[in-house]
Amino acid sequence: MGKDVIVACDFANADQVFGFLDRFTGRKPFVKIGMELFYAEGPQIVREIKRRGHKIFLDLKLHDIPNTVKKSMSVLSNLDVDITNLHAGGTVRMMEAALEGLTRPDGTRPLLIAVTQLTSTDQEAMENDLLIKEPIDQVVMHYAANAKKAGLDGVVCSPLEAGKVHDTCGKDFLTITPGVRFADGDIGDQKRVMTPAAAKEIGSDYIVVGRPITAAADPVAAYERCVAEFCDG
Ligand code: C5P
Repeated sequence: MGKDVIVACDFANADQVFGFLDRFTGRKPFVKIGMELFYAEGPQIVREIKRRGHKIFLDLKLHDIPNTVKKSMSVLSNLDVDITNLHAGGTVRMMEAALEGLTRPDGTRPLLIAVTQLTSTDQEAMENDLLIKEPIDQVVMHYAANAKKAGLDGVVCSPLEAGKVHDTCGKDFLTITPGVRFADGDIGDQKRVMTPAAAKEIGSDYIVVGRPITAAADPVAAYERCVAEFCDG
């Protein structure tokens, strides 16, 4: 899979997501399904979006004991998604178990990506709540290195960290980066943002874009603009 724009379909139910996806009559976007939609509609929503011809990043961020994560990943691999993820904080052993569970009998599997520290966790919360005293960028790189050691395919990170992740873990280790905004758009609640063109420049492999597309007056035009800047530009 090459560079692509993944649209975060953060909708509350199936009607809303299909109303949105029906607009795309040309290129079919790579779709991110998160917890809200998955918990509202169940696995059927994944099958239906897949049936409509979209690639899927199932963003459920698993984090549990290795045995439970392994069995859950095995169930997710039957849904035939293209990318799924977990928390690197679950340890290398949990990530290895996840990879085992995700691998189908024929050896194929979806890409498996780790979340390092959530961008909602800052240095202060990490030190006070998690008792992790190291600088947060060092923790993020350590978790990325753990994910690589466990055999995973990449990490979710800020576009600002993508270059350093590639330096630490190699250029083939995938970086999936949210926090993308158009130069002339609202940043909303995202703090550290980058344009699709800048994310391309710094070496992101996939950008995850939500509201700049889903809340646009013309979502298809906004999507095509992202593709033009990030994939073709
Ligand atoms: O609407 P927006 O473009 O901000 O959406 C970004 C998407 O990426 C959302 O689904 C959000 O949950 C997700 N995400 C993020 N930052 C992270 C990890 C995931 O914004 N660190």
